Amino acid sequence: MPKEQANQRMWGGRFDKEPAPEAQAFSHSLFIDQRLWSQDIQGSIAHARMLGITGILNQHEANTLVQALLEIAHEIQEGDWLFDYEAEDIHTAIEQRLYEKVGALAGKLHTARSRNDQVATDTRLWLREMTPKIGHTLIELCEALIELAEQHMLTLLPGLTHQQHAQPVSLAHHLMAHLWALGRDLERLVQSAHRMNLCPLGAGALSGTSIPIDRELTANELGFSLPIPNSMDAVSDRDFVADYLYTFTMIMLHLSRIAQELINWSTPEYGFVELDDAYTTGSSLMPQKKNPDIAELIRGRSALAVGNLTAWLTLLKGLPLTYNRDLQDDKPLLFATFDSMLPAIRLTRAMLQSARWNTERMRSALVGDFSTATELADYLVNKGLPFREAHHVVGQIVRDCIQQGIGLEALTLDILRRHSPLFEEDALQAVQPEQAVQAKRVLGGTAPEAVKAQIEHARKVLNLLEHQLHELANPV
Ligand code: ARG
Repeated sequence: MPKEQANQRMWGGRFDKEPAPEAQAFSHSLFIDQRLWSQDIQGSIAHARMLGITGILNQHEANTLVQALLEIAHEIQEGDWLFDYEAEDIHTAIEQRLYEKVGALAGKLHTARSRNDQVATDTRLWLREMTPKIGHTLIELCEALIELAEQHMLTLLPGLTHQQHAQPVSLAHHLMAHLWALGRDLERLVQSAHRMNLCPLGAGALSGTSIPIDRELTANELGFSLPIPNSMDAVSDRDFVADYLYTFTMIMLHLSRIAQELINWSTPEYGFVELDDAYTTGSSLMPQKKNPDIAELIRGRSALAVGNLTAWLTLLKGLPLTYNRDLQDDKPLLFATFDSMLPAIRLTRAMLQSARWNTERMRSALVGDFSTATELADYLVNKGLPFREAHHVVGQIVRDCIQQGIGLEALTLDILRRHSPLFEEDALQAVQPEQAVQAKRVLGGTAPEAVKAQIEHARKVLNLLEHQLHELANPV
């Protein structure tokens, strides 16, 4: 490029030559940050209006800029104007288009602004816009879990610790455990959005500006609660990217744990669930196969999310104040995690809703598995025996049963009384899984009435979070 053209670059004035082609290719980000076009224009419109209101530009100039920016937005939306990928980034691409439309006036838009405060603003606006979308998708998954839970209050299966049969639980209770994890993710999402909702615009390159702008006006116009109080922090801070990446990663991690269970449960060894054809694939070699690929991919993508979060934290840790170009690489990480997370949430919901639950297999897994041994110990405790002694007595009963090759449900009163005179007829009931589950009526327990209360509580929490998401999307 001849020198005249090099000087037309946003920052070309002091340069004699163009950057080397490979250096350009290495640093250009338009392919990635083009996704911020509407936030970039939104930010520019707010800035132009403020310049007009404060009299830094005259009203006609400000209106012309706003009008042209709206036109550009329309062109992009309609596909009437395609980005020029020679441009360095989205800010440059849009500014160049503005030049084509309004000529030299375009150069006034950047009054009291730098790309440093601009990109920090755009990224915040984008995340804020995506937040209700992510939140509602998560809420739909939570609702699907509640719906399933309501159908399976009386479906029993072994609850595990150390992957060993521990105590019977209802499928409802099990599914609700996953719901609470997702509920915390929703909270994290709302909290991240609130913490992030401050406006960097007006920080200039790093130290503020001598031009008498009104930062509160722009912050207000863009729906931020306040301008960021320190201009250096404003252009340097990307903690909010870490907050969001962490929140996204926790979502993926929770989906991965659900996926792992679905994978286990759909093996012939478990046989608890059959995933719908729509979310499984066959084998190119073995005709009988039905593989849980989608669940496996969700599990795998969660690892990529952890990688992206780790990359971001590592990138941030050594950065001196203020803006450094390394910060540009937040966007590929954010977008990649976001792009796998949203479909993963939807697919998890679809897999759960379309799965066939083999409730008989679940119930029969409890036969002879000794998972009601604790009930027998609690029975003795209720008769006044100290728990430690009761534990020992029941341990011996279990050992005898194993020797005789029977399960606890097959015990007779005679056998029980040989171990303790405290046993009576109702002890035979206590070892039945149905009875064991019914008995866990404590707050947070697996008894149907406790699960019902839990579901009501969850509904209230979800309603509140839905309300908070709505407020984020429509700030007052
Ligand atoms: N593309 C850059 C980014 O995303 C925009 C800011 C560039 N600022 C600069 N001084 N080079 O971070």
